[in-house]
Amino acid sequence: MPEVSVRRRRSAYERVVRPVLYRLGRGDAEVAHEQTLAGLRLLGRVPGAPRAAARLYGAAKAATPRTVFGVRFPSPVGLAAGMDKNGIALRAWPALGFGFVEVGTVTAHPQPGNEKPRLFRLVEHEAVINRMGFNNLGSEALAGRLAAYGDLGYPLGISIGKSKVTPLEDAVEDYVTSLSRLYRYGDYFAVNVSSPNTPGLRTLQDAGHLRELLTALHAEAAALTVAGLDPKPILVKIAPDLTTSAIDELLQVCTGTGVAGIIATNTTIGRPGVEAHPLAQQAGGLSGRPLAETSAKVVAHIHNETGGALPIIGVGGIVDAADATRLFDAGASLVQVYSGLIYRGPGLVRTINRSLP
Ligand code: FNR
Repeated sequence: MPEVSVRRRRSAYERVVRPVLYRLGRGDAEVAHEQTLAGLRLLGRVPGAPRAAARLYGAAKAATPRTVFGVRFPSPVGLAAGMDKNGIALRAWPALGFGFVEVGTVTAHPQPGNEKPRLFRLVEHEAVINRMGFNNLGSEALAGRLAAYGDLGYPLGISIGKSKVTPLEDAVEDYVTSLSRLYRYGDYFAVNVSSPNTPGLRTLQDAGHLRELLTALHAEAAALTVAGLDPKPILVKIAPDLTTSAIDELLQVCTGTGVAGIIATNTTIGRPGVEAHPLAQQAGGLSGRPLAETSAKVVAHIHNETGGALPIIGVGGIVDAADATRLFDAGASLVQVYSGLIYRGPGLVRTINRSLP
């Protein structure tokens, strides 16, 4: 039988918007990112625009709400950390169908991140390599911005990380400072110990370091709760590059210190399936389609190891509804997307929402 190639019909975003975005800044992916964010920020500010966009994307109707670690999510599909680090477009995201957003990663000190260029598209693979290095305005600035927004009307996750200027031995204080500044504004907190772009950060996934960090964060959270704030779930975001025994050790620490869930996974330092690409040797973390298999494996492993007791936010390589389904089937309660948005556009979120049972 002759092979029949079934070509996927490309969306208007892919045919019209994406080529324009790719040309911005002479192809610099970060310029496209900045322009997209600026556009979304504007959308969020124009009266009536978010509602019109929501109708276009059929967001609210299609979504299936669910409650996870005590938080009610209008849809289980969220925006992953790193896209809107400083929370500048928070009024716009629900209009695209997102049920929650994770802002950050922010650090105690504002910082510029690594030298540019630091973001690369591997178009043929629907993949991205980034070595942004937590470029962000700092947790104090984010707190100010979130205070000005008031109630967003959807759950907000806040990802916290370590400032580059802070030595690894003082990392705990850096994270605690950001948690304390932002505690009243987040519905959950993500402890980012898995970015490959801050030297030494991933060693905080080791049992000893992690126990110390999580104990301090929970102690700070308890103190803030005594001071009158609601208790908030604290989650840990992990790398896809850990061995299964390292994951198991980490899970023991997480359950022992009262962690509410795991976010799996961050970008990989591996280059699965993209080794031959001219950009594959760029330093940084790989995300997008090549990560899908690994992230599903990690989610399944965590789910099996914990008997489903620890909620999982599945992230990594979702570029269509089937990828999201794979992560839900592996045991994720919620999913997040980032790179898939770059390649498939906002219609991806609607497609996933509609595919949910
Ligand atoms: C990220 N990611 C990320 N994660 C995080 O916890 N804090 C961060 O600041 C960032 N920053 C960041 C920047 C860029 C440019 C990318 C592409 C990614 C990782 C992201 O949240 C997610 O875990 C991975 O990208 C895998 O998901 P996708 O992109 O395959 O859907």
